[in-house]
Amino acid sequence: MTKYLITSALPYINGIKHLGNLAGSLLPADVHARYRRQTGAEVLYICATDEHGTPAELAAADAGVGISDYCARQHVLQAGTYRGFDLSFDHFGRSSGPRNHALTQHFFACLERNGFVEERELKQVYSAADGRFLPDRYVIGTCPHCGSDRARGDQCEACARQLDPTDLIAPRSAVSGSTDLEVRGTRHLFLRQTALEGSLRDWLASRRDWPPLVVSIANKWLDEGIRDRCITRDLSWGVPVPKLGYQGKVFYVWFDAPIEYIAATQEWADVDPESRDWRSWWLEADDVRYLQFLGKDNVPFHAVSFPCTLLGSGERWKSVDVIKGLNWLTYEGGKFSTSASRGVFLDQALDLLPADRWRWWLTANAPEGSDTDFTFARFAADVDHDLADTFGNFVQRVLSFVVSRYDGVVPEGPLDADLPARLAPLLDQLRERHEALALRGTADAVRAVWRFANAYLVERAPWTLLKTNPAAAAGAIRTAVGLIGVCAQAAWPIMPGAAAKALAAIGEDADLPAFPTEHIAIPAGRRIAHPGLLFAKLGAAWAEAQSRRFAGTV
Ligand code: 2FM
Ligand code: ZN
Repeated sequence: MTKYLITSALPYINGIKHLGNLAGSLLPADVHARYRRQTGAEVLYICATDEHGTPAELAAADAGVGISDYCARQHVLQAGTYRGFDLSFDHFGRSSGPRNHALTQHFFACLERNGFVEERELKQVYSAADGRFLPDRYVIGTCPHCGSDRARGDQCEACARQLDPTDLIAPRSAVSGSTDLEVRGTRHLFLRQTALEGSLRDWLASRRDWPPLVVSIANKWLDEGIRDRCITRDLSWGVPVPKLGYQGKVFYVWFDAPIEYIAATQEWADVDPESRDWRSWWLEADDVRYLQFLGKDNVPFHAVSFPCTLLGSGERWKSVDVIKGLNWLTYEGGKFSTSASRGVFLDQALDLLPADRWRWWLTANAPEGSDTDFTFARFAADVDHDLADTFGNFVQRVLSFVVSRYDGVVPEGPLDADLPARLAPLLDQLRERHEALALRGTADAVRAVWRFANAYLVERAPWTLLKTNPAAAAGAIRTAVGLIGVCAQAAWPIMPGAAAKALAAIGEDADLPAFPTEHIAIPAGRRIAHPGLLFAKLGAAWAEAQSRRFAGTV
């Protein structure tokens, strides 16, 4: 049987993430992992914090703590937030851990042995006051084109021109503000991706069913000409380069980060080595289907760079079968901004509402074909309609009826004989949408099941039938209780919290509900436990208040 390895892009360690990070990789991966588990497949869903790189170092310095402590604390905070969103990682690792250090050095040794690593000298800006080389974007100064005094050494944000640090007038260090800068030669290692182009093209051609967004980004990179890639940096925080003359240098964060997918699987296996075997997921793993979920900016690293690392190693590592790339989530017509407190960050989102409403809306409006704009007005209107008025309303009406008319016990009565055949195409459609990794389509298919259930109730009207044909009324309500189960099973990958409540209420498996393939025949005589209101309405006034609250400072 096929096993499913699922990874979502590793969130950077610095800072709590916003709704866009959830929508762009973590949540879609979770929905798929849950669907696969529902079908009985063996699944491993891996994620980790991406902890190296200059932004992490600078964030630690800003916070006034050592980088290692900073990462440890941030990891715990992020892990807590993701638990709050019911993300069902099998392991949430750390790219700064010993497993990733060892594995990154292993890949480097393989690539070097196979002749894919080359030494080159680069000219870079050195800051004597900081005692370090500065990455291009940490040299700031005046733009020679537009005169902005906040241009970065890689680009001027004011006029969007690409720059070199030496183009800047009056350059200074973004770290300390020092102007005591000089350009120095420094040796670095390059991965000879040009030498791997043939293998890479063959590998890409062997990938089937990649979504158009991903294929077009990968092809664009190849058409523009694949280039060798500098894989080392003059930094102290990162995986040390195990080579003579490279003391004090580390690997580039984008070299070690994807390797953490494998290293985090090793960490997962380390927890219980008797029963867990990381090799069976990553080495000669022909029975594994590997799916990656990530934002569109990450596609080149996963479709070109990381495959070059794996191919160049000469070892039989598992490579990705399907990349699901997503567009951006924007916030009320603009960008999320940490510095301007604009938009909803994940900890704030959980303070406002439990996970399910966010998970539902971000799946039903996933940035698949194009970017999605989040507005509180749309969010409140959609979740009120779908969750309060459709799913919640059905559960509420049926269970309240069982409580008021049958003392909370599912009555004896014949199940509706026609219903399974009418339901079957909707469940087939739901499966197809999951298989196609179509997020919006999946939510549409779930909504169709809920609508069907509501329509059934209106059609059979057990409250009227009760007066003329009590046996038929009992059968209809027993059928409807079974439909609650189907509605909740269908919803579970997207809304595990509310789905579990509804399933527990009717005495069905709420821990790992099966994928719904047919109507559920609830035995007469089963006692139900009314869960209360699943979704209170948010309303337009609530939406307006939140929109004002999260509008930011600029
Ligand atoms: O863009 C990002 O948020 C990166 N931290 C994603 C890394 S994915 C993987 F390669 F590690
Ligand atoms: Zn400029």
